[in-house]
Amino acid sequence: MNILVTGGAGFIGSCFIRHILKTYPNYKIINLDALTYCTNIHNLDDIKSNPNYKFIHGNICNKTLVDDLTKMVDWVVNFAAESHVDNSIKNPEIFINTNLNGTLNLLEASRKNKIKKFLQISTDEVYGSIENNEYFKETTPLNPNNPYSASKAAADLLVRSYFKTYDLPTLNTRCSNNFGPYQYPEKLIPNIILKLLNNEKISLYGDGLNVRDWIYVFDHIRAIDIVLHKGKLGEVYNIGGNCEKTNLQIANIILKALNKDENSIIFIKDRPAHDRRYAMSTEKIENELGWKPMFSFDKSIKETIDWYITNKKWINTIFTNK
Ligand SMILES: NC(=O)c1ccc[n+]([C@@H]2O[C@H](COP(=O)([O-])OP(=O)(O)OC[C@H]3O[C@@H](n4cnc5c(N)ncnc54)[C@H](O)[C@@H]3O)[C@@H](O)[C@H]2O)c1
Repeated sequence: MNILVTGGAGFIGSCFIRHILKTYPNYKIINLDALTYCTNIHNLDDIKSNPNYKFIHGNICNKTLVDDLTKMVDWVVNFAAESHVDNSIKNPEIFINTNLNGTLNLLEASRKNKIKKFLQISTDEVYGSIENNEYFKETTPLNPNNPYSASKAAADLLVRSYFKTYDLPTLNTRCSNNFGPYQYPEKLIPNIILKLLNNEKISLYGDGLNVRDWIYVFDHIRAIDIVLHKGKLGEVYNIGGNCEKTNLQIANIILKALNKDENSIIFIKDRPAHDRRYAMSTEKIENELGWKPMFSFDKSIKETIDWYITNKKWINTIFTNK
């Protein structure tokens, strides 16, 4: 099997590529990544000489390049995205360019070159915010509240339209908040870890009580593998860790692990349109494909903190992008 993975130098994509190369020795991967500010070619240093792996530095919006690459593969898995909500509020345009127009470009090339499976990696944020005791199902209407989630929701709908209109064999996953090694420190968990390791204060939006469902990145990858191989074409699958925590709880867990106290927290003005709660129902993927999360949050967060303590070289390179 030959797979074009886009955004494979990023946090989740690099974890996926490592997993696929290890689990399926006959598969070949082409990784197309623009190496934007939040990533680093060194994320994949450990596999760069694997004969089944090829890296292409390029943009998913490049029509000729994407057309050429989709001629060489059977499947496309699209991780490439601008993914930071705060950036999308400051500069929405690049989110539409990459997340929507880039996805359109990949879909068009996939249709033209008769790709056998197209998997769109998406997020629970497309559903918007949900009340306590309710859960997002795959049938929950899309209700995005910021330019990032709107661009991802639009891309999901475009993927659906390619399945309905052109019979492109598509799949779509929507996952909750990931954490684990190699995550760029603009995101909550690595941001808190690195600030505390530097003896800096950490900032939480509003009252810190926004709820997210947390999943260890390796559980997400297990789910993507199953959906890619066994998912029903045209379907959407929610993926979640069944692990809801407020941002304040997350901060307190990391503070405790690093022997700090709540004096390190500053509460800052809330983000505009900040979704209060995300919570996933994973019934569909559990019942239809037999996946459920297997890593415990407590153990995984400790491993993640240890990874950031140990991998100082990675931290230095991610900030200099060299
Ligand atoms: N991180 C999460 O918690 C989470 C949760 C659910 C879904 N997702 C989705 O998973 C995917 C990967 O997220 P991540 O956290 O690994 O993000 P990331 O920012 O670490 O990785 C994104 C990668 O895409 C690349 N990229 C960006 N624009 C590109 C372009 N125009 N052309 C080619 N490559 C480009 C970047 O260089 C980077 O390597 C995204 O689609 C995101 O929406 C993330």
